[in-house]
Amino acid sequence: MERTLSIVKPDGVTLNVIGEVISRFEKKGLKVKALKMLHLSKEEAKGFYIVHKERPFYGSLTDFMSEGPIVVMVLEGPQAISLVRETMGATNYKDAAPGTIRADFATDIERNVVHGSDSLESATFEIKYFFSAMEIF
Ligand code: CMP
Repeated sequence: MERTLSIVKPDGVTLNVIGEVISRFEKKGLKVKALKMLHLSKEEAKGFYIVHKERPFYGSLTDFMSEGPIVVMVLEGPQAISLVRETMGATNYKDAAPGTIRADFATDIERNVVHGSDSLESATFEIKYFFSAMEIF
């Protein structure tokens, strides 16, 4: 069993696909173990994406991630990290496989609807960033 963190980003919330995203994960057998909606401050978005602080897109990414509410969730299942990433599709929606969330809804490399942890190490950091042990069921 593995746990991972996923986010419906501000563009996904605006597009009204919160339920659609969660449903796609559930259909793959993943279980929702924690869920909440929140609006990140710029500083909170910077802290979440700290691994990208040297990247040219860091400023724009953290503006985007703090522009409106997001939905964060902990998903659990066998190989949850890679399963979530497969279900999301490639970061750049132009490279995303047909039928993936990003192929279907993303409009830009940055505004790509959904986030999923990319490793066990990131999943541990990202889950703790949003949820206390008592909030995960
Ligand atoms: P995510 O999977 O959340 O991880 C980092 C995010 O940075 C990524 O999705 C995109 O939203 C954004 N991103 C990654 N690469 C680029 C890029 N080349 N230009 C702009 N944004 C990017």
